[in-house]
Amino acid sequence: MKALILSGGRGTRLRPLTHTMAKQLVPVANQPILGYVMGHIVEAGIADIGVIVAPETQEEVKAYLGDGTKWGVSISYILQERPLGLAHAVKTARPFLGDSPFVMYLGDNLLGAGIKEAMEHFLKSGPHALIFLKEVRDPTQFGVAVMDQTGKIERLIEKPKEPPSNLALVGVYFFSPSIHEAIESITPSWRGELEITDAIQRLIDSGKKVEGEILKCWWLDTGKKDDFLKANRVVLDEYVKKDIKGTVDSDSTIEGRVRIEQGARIIRSTVRGPCVIGKNAVVKDSFIGPFTSIGDHSLVEHSVVQHTVILSHSEVIDIAQMEDSLIGRQAKVVKNRGLRRSLQLMIGDHSLVEV
Ligand code: TTP
Repeated sequence: MKALILSGGRGTRLRPLTHTMAKQLVPVANQPILGYVMGHIVEAGIADIGVIVAPETQEEVKAYLGDGTKWGVSISYILQERPLGLAHAVKTARPFLGDSPFVMYLGDNLLGAGIKEAMEHFLKSGPHALIFLKEVRDPTQFGVAVMDQTGKIERLIEKPKEPPSNLALVGVYFFSPSIHEAIESITPSWRGELEITDAIQRLIDSGKKVEGEILKCWWLDTGKKDDFLKANRVVLDEYVKKDIKGTVDSDSTIEGRVRIEQGARIIRSTVRGPCVIGKNAVVKDSFIGPFTSIGDHSLVEHSVVQHTVILSHSEVIDIAQMEDSLIGRQAKVVKNRGLRRSLQLMIGDHSLVEV
């Protein structure tokens, strides 16, 4: 059994962050999303992992994952020159995959539970594909599956206007090598991509068994800012335990489950969990409210910040109320200290400022 992690793509919906970093490396509760994906694959006992990378972001993905030694696995990188679709990614990875069964895991998806049980079921009962599904409120945004009583998939439809079911395809798929033949027989969709849903439909049409498994745990696709903040909230809520490695002065209060990393300093402030404060970060004369992650080496001074993600090396100073925000690396949000009341902004391409 092998694993294929998709860590290419453009990440247009998470711009401007993804102008300078891979979407899969944006941290949730201060750990890159790829870290959670690796955790599930390693926990399932898969030791041979291929990672699809894009030319623009391959270096930083490689810098984070390395050769896999830190997880006790072997990692092979597979360069996909252009993001021509999920099925194109599988096609590009064919030399790595050979004739092995594999799990394909989208590198920007977060799941509330692992994949070990499903993998064992897939290997034992032997369908040609097993796909994870989740009941969603608005299926028009997703690939949707129609499944019979026995768990057999009858039909897949990409972003249907009139959804025949509320079961969305989650970013985890188990495949037997017969998927390669199916991919060879499909052509690009209207958006110019080789769609994995088309390839799976080919399997179904040629009489091969495709099963679905409805997830009971949460599933989050971190493609957009609000999804991303939600992912941060859910992960903080589920995983953070009180753990204080940094220093907290006697004028500060820590309430609830707060993780304060090595070298971080809390000065004359209140931090109310669940929250994570990164290594060497400084929180001074501030209130940090629930569901906030502050990255390594960042500074929050004289501010109120909640339900927000601040990446590393950034500063938030003199801000009366910051909420529902996503702040990139080496960014500064400061109150204009002069007499002028106008906004003074320097904002990168594709930024969003709500005042
Ligand atoms: P998407 O979120 O569908 O695509 P994207 O990353 O290009 O994002 P956006 O729509 O915001 O531009 O991709 C899902 C995952 O699969 C993501 O981790 C990127 C990866 N991917 C590839 O590795 N190769 C591809 O050809 C595509 C389309 C996606």
